[in-house]
Amino acid sequence: MAKKTRTRIEAKFNKKTVRDIKVDSKQLLVRVDYNVPVDKDGNISDDSRIRASLPTIKYLLDHHARVILCSHFGRPKGKVVGSMRLTPVGKRLSELLKKPVTALKNCVGPEVEKAVSQMKDGDIVLLENLRFHPEEEANEPNFARSLAKLAEVYVDDAFGSSHRAHASVTGVAQYLPAVAGFLMEKELNFMGCLLENPAHPFVAVMGGAKVSDKLGVIQNILDKVDSLLIGGGMAANFLKAQGYGVGASAVEEDKLDYTKELLAKVQSQGVRLLLPADVMVCEKLEAGVPCRIVSVRDIPATWVIADIGPDTIERFVQEIRRSKTAFWNGPMGVCEIEPSAEGTRAIARALAESKATTIVGGGSTAEAVEEMKLTNKMTHVSTGGGASLKFLEDKELPGVAVLQNK
Ligand code: 3PG
Ligand code: MG
Repeated sequence: MAKKTRTRIEAKFNKKTVRDIKVDSKQLLVRVDYNVPVDKDGNISDDSRIRASLPTIKYLLDHHARVILCSHFGRPKGKVVGSMRLTPVGKRLSELLKKPVTALKNCVGPEVEKAVSQMKDGDIVLLENLRFHPEEEANEPNFARSLAKLAEVYVDDAFGSSHRAHASVTGVAQYLPAVAGFLMEKELNFMGCLLENPAHPFVAVMGGAKVSDKLGVIQNILDKVDSLLIGGGMAANFLKAQGYGVGASAVEEDKLDYTKELLAKVQSQGVRLLLPADVMVCEKLEAGVPCRIVSVRDIPATWVIADIGPDTIERFVQEIRRSKTAFWNGPMGVCEIEPSAEGTRAIARALAESKATTIVGGGSTAEAVEEMKLTNKMTHVSTGGGASLKFLEDKELPGVAVLQNK
């Protein structure tokens, strides 16, 4: 089933892109987000973010540009950490491009400058992990200047990092003309359509562990959505705010009042709120421990909520079936372990089968969809976790703000 070609998304993006500038024979510093998930042996477990960067890179190489890629990877906290080198990423990129990609040993300094000065049109290099330097996250101007020195133009294609005001995201734009890549453009168009002109009924499915990450988004999209479906660890906060006992499930007590206010707002705005009616509870959030399905009225005092239950899944799926726009962010349960992955899988399947415009927020939600091989059954799966949430909170993304307007 080829998905949703009939969905038309209006392009509202008003920033310059690589299409709007002359790129041939130019040295371009291209910020990408290659913060890819890796397994315990350090192998890339999901290369979606690398593949998502290909359209911009191919366009630039086809137009005879000299492409200098830069990215962060993990959180090495300003030190060189061997397991966080970008070498495996460069290798994977080279396989995908079917072209050599030179991975450099640093991201600034004389050796990097020398390598870059020897580049020819159509060459591509990958700088080493930006976060090996503490100046990256500190947005230190001299570091930004050293990066900028490598190029004539800055291209930001790292939507997933655009909520971070770091040297390679905002700092370099002080010294170089800054334009967007195609991934950045695509992400902002899709995300923008959720806020600007969603087809109704519009359903938002929110999950994940931390309610504090999601309250701002819920607050901001309340006047746009018709229904709000809440699962995942954060559902405990909502259930508790409604007076249910949630056993030993984690609750952000300091967010309870806000959760209550939000519940009142949901009601006054006429939004249909679906909270879990039944849940899977376990003795602990670990594989192989005893689990059972209970009504939310009967959660045992020492057990924890691990997933939404079958009745809840059924109600959520029905609601998704009725929708014309659906946004999903956050797993419905502890999807890394069986059997509490079923809620997340059921939502992914329902979205994949739906004819609605389906937009999936990044991070672990995108990983779950990718693992089920359903990515191309969705209208759009974002490469940004934190960034897509910030955007939907209606917060200006610093990495977008610095780009030149059309
Ligand atoms: C992400 O994975 O969400 C982005 O790459 C940003 O990474 P960070 O949360 O470590 O800044
Ligand atoms: Mg993150």
